[in-house]
Amino acid sequence: MEIESVKLVYFSPTGTTKAVALGIADGINPGTMELIDITRPDARKQPLMTSENELLVVAVPVYMGRVPALLNEWLNAIQAHNTPTVCVVVYGNRVYDDALLEVKNIVMKCGCIPIACAAYIGEHSFSDPKTATAQGRPDEKDLNHAEVLGREIRKKLHSISSISQISDVHVPGTYPYGGVTKLWIVDFIAVSDECSQCGICAEKCPVGAVDPENPSLVDKEKCITCCACIKNCPQNARSMKPGMVKDASVRLHTLYSQRKEPECFI
Ligand SMILES: Cc1cc2nc3c(=O)[nH]c(=O)nc-3n(C[C@H](O)[C@H](O)[C@H](O)COP(=O)(O)O)c2cc1C
Repeated sequence: MEIESVKLVYFSPTGTTKAVALGIADGINPGTMELIDITRPDARKQPLMTSENELLVVAVPVYMGRVPALLNEWLNAIQAHNTPTVCVVVYGNRVYDDALLEVKNIVMKCGCIPIACAAYIGEHSFSDPKTATAQGRPDEKDLNHAEVLGREIRKKLHSISSISQISDVHVPGTYPYGGVTKLWIVDFIAVSDECSQCGICAEKCPVGAVDPENPSLVDKEKCITCCACIKNCPQNARSMKPGMVKDASVRLHTLYSQRKEPECFI
């Protein structure tokens, strides 16, 4: 089956999901590739339409064992027509629970045909230099794995003449899904005097929770605790206050230090 182009969709507040998605795309090595970064709120105003001649890659991080709830509306509005699709989740070395199954079910409802699914590991959003979890991941080994997966996907597409020849790709998980879609409502960002009010944190926030005029003001109702503002601050002026998120960071560091490896289903 000839694929004219690849559409690479990712939501990636701290960049690990994007890195994995690009790794897979390297292996697919398509003629043309469109990057659809749905991290910023504006990008989620445009609906996505795809056809049978395109390959769609959908990559999201795992939040509380689920697809981040803020993406549901956009993902469920994808208009596909028998579009071969690669489903990817990236998780912080704890668990991905039913998130991969959830991505797969969502895209199938939109008219996509899953041809490969995979779970990768990314440095945990709550990881901090002192309480690191999955630090530096995806690393070189993960990205090599992603590239090999991309090549396998290409081979699989070349081995068939029509999308109707694709059989179901089985992934772990159960429905009704476990996990939690309601995130913590918590005031956890400390801003030090090093803050130069450059506004990068507000720009990087996927939900517009940081006030661009006064970046030390964070709307905790909107905040999804993704830590993009902390990790993207060029002055390192943002950190976690003592409390729930910092405690979680310590807990994750203690309990999930053993390296997990990527899994793919093709
Ligand atoms: C609110 C929230 C919930 C999370 N829940 C999980 C989880 O259930 N399991 C896990 O292993 N990692 C979890 N993570 C970590 C992210 O899945 C992981 O760090 C991912 O690599 C972040 O992707 P990004 O770099 O593209 O933002 C969570 C992160 C956040 C912010």
